[in-house]
Amino acid sequence: MIPTDFFRGRRLRNSLTLRQLVRENEITANDLIMPYFVAETDDVSFMKEISSMPGQYQLSLEQLKKKVGEAVENGLKSCILFGIPAEKDAVGSQAYDDAGIVQKAIRMLKDTWPELVVCADTCLCEYTSHGHCGIVKNDYVVNDPTLNLLAKTAVAQARAGADIVAPSDMMDGRVAAIRAALDDAGFINTPIMSYAVKYASSFYGPFREAAESSPQFGDRKTYQMDPPNSREAMREAVADLEEGADILMVKPGMPYLDILRQVRDNFDTPVAAYQVSGEYSMIKAAAQNGWIDEEGVVMEALVAFKRAGADLILTYFTEDVLKTLKR
Ligand code: PBG
Repeated sequence: MIPTDFFRGRRLRNSLTLRQLVRENEITANDLIMPYFVAETDDVSFMKEISSMPGQYQLSLEQLKKKVGEAVENGLKSCILFGIPAEKDAVGSQAYDDAGIVQKAIRMLKDTWPELVVCADTCLCEYTSHGHCGIVKNDYVVNDPTLNLLAKTAVAQARAGADIVAPSDMMDGRVAAIRAALDDAGFINTPIMSYAVKYASSFYGPFREAAESSPQFGDRKTYQMDPPNSREAMREAVADLEEGADILMVKPGMPYLDILRQVRDNFDTPVAAYQVSGEYSMIKAAAQNGWIDEEGVVMEALVAFKRAGADLILTYFTEDVLKTLKR
């Protein structure tokens, strides 16, 4: 005799419409931020595929405009920019030059699509000859002297029209320094999305090819977080909130879903998840081998961020997802 008083979870899975009716989390175009790599070059047709990130490119300003135009047609709402300057130096001066490549790209995008939310990654590593996220003295990235340069970078980005600045350098006190500088320059309404909880991760490998930002000596372990730690993540989040962060980001994404959930549970601020380059490349590589179904895996990976509590998601799959959502 089989008992009949058990839970019948299958009842609500019987059709797509039923499943959609009771679905708890959903990916929409409103939540997605597409990263772009913009290169300083005179070659207007410049478009170089990043070998470790198939489908992602370094783009000239003109090619960026084309690419964003197509994405906007498909429903793109937001992007984040990374710059590859023609010249790098020890203090990353192209990061805060009003004529720097990212500042130019921001102005172009905002002139063309005023509604598009344009975020700027606020960091020095793409602009420094040594590839570190701050000023280097005796092979050490010095914290406090770097703050002023990060603040100058954020102000230059805001002046160019950035809707959000996103410090990713992991110097202590940078959110406070950036907030003060923005306010002082009159940008009281420019939000800061801080990479509050950013681990020293091997998953950033492909990005460093894309942004040509590999450290030329050592690594980023003296400023980015140690992967085994989770309590420390809450301290980082509290510090950034107290300093004035408006959105907290957790990065990388999938290997740190537990951290994302903890940040969500502890703070009422909007929370962002960054599905980083290595996560993208792993999915792409497996899909290209025919080992996994790319679209299925991407949607499942992204909804995991939602389930873990993310409000917004930075992902290199944004353009693909927009197409999927359109169907
Ligand atoms: C700059 C920065 C990095 C990423 C975002 N901003 C690289 C790093 O910290 O080395 C990584 C993004 C990715 O891997 O997709 N500091």
